Amino acid sequence: MGLLQEGINEVIATTWSNAAPMGIVLRDGVYRMVLFRGSHTAMNVERWGWVVANIIHDPVLYVKTAFGDLPSSAFIEEDVEGFLVHRLPGAEAWIAFQVDVENRARESMTVVLSPMKEAVLSPAVHPVNRGFNSVIEAAVHGTRYLWNKDPELRRLIDHHRGLIRRCGGPRELEALALLDVFLGTGKEPLP
Ligand SMILES: Cc1cc2nc3c(=O)[nH]c(=O)nc-3n(C[C@H](O)[C@H](O)[C@H](O)COP(=O)(O)O)c2cc1C
Repeated sequence: MGLLQEGINEVIATTWSNAAPMGIVLRDGVYRMVLFRGSHTAMNVERWGWVVANIIHDPVLYVKTAFGDLPSSAFIEEDVEGFLVHRLPGAEAWIAFQVDVENRARESMTVVLSPMKEAVLSPAVHPVNRGFNSVIEAAVHGTRYLWNKDPELRRLIDHHRGLIRRCGGPRELEALALLDVFLGTGKEPLP
């Protein structure tokens, strides 16, 4: 066990028939997630007690799962220690965790994750691409922007839009176009 690294690992978390980008925090050997309580992921981990971290480098999938849903045909079932879990077929690797709630606050909850099984399926080499990184940044800001329409977040998204256009490949540009559809941004000038 040990595919994830110290710090925050931005993975696509799958729960039952649901996928969303989530940060898995690894500090001093302990895995945690901080989940906004309105999300399907939070509801599902409380209900079923497991989550799968999918390691995947498709920028379009990060945007799709941050703002939309995948059809149930997009998941593969795995039997892990008596849990029937869902993972993504395109994952280069996946880790199934058992989940315990550590702390519930009004808007968020902290959960501790215990690794049950890791699988490496099709590891690939990923040369660093600032466009890809900016898709992740823009998607993080975008999920918050949808909440509060903060113009500062809009400015950050526009900054990352520039980097995606300059440094990204076709898949990053497709992710940006999709992000703009979900956010209703990209066309009109800054406020
Ligand atoms: C890279 C990235 C990391 C994210 N990390 C978290 C996180 O750690 N906790 C959280 O509650 N939301 C996080 N989000 C936001 C969720 O992905 C977003 O709210 C999503 O709509 C939740 O989907 P769900 O309702 O299907 O669970 C993150 C988004 C992105 C793009």
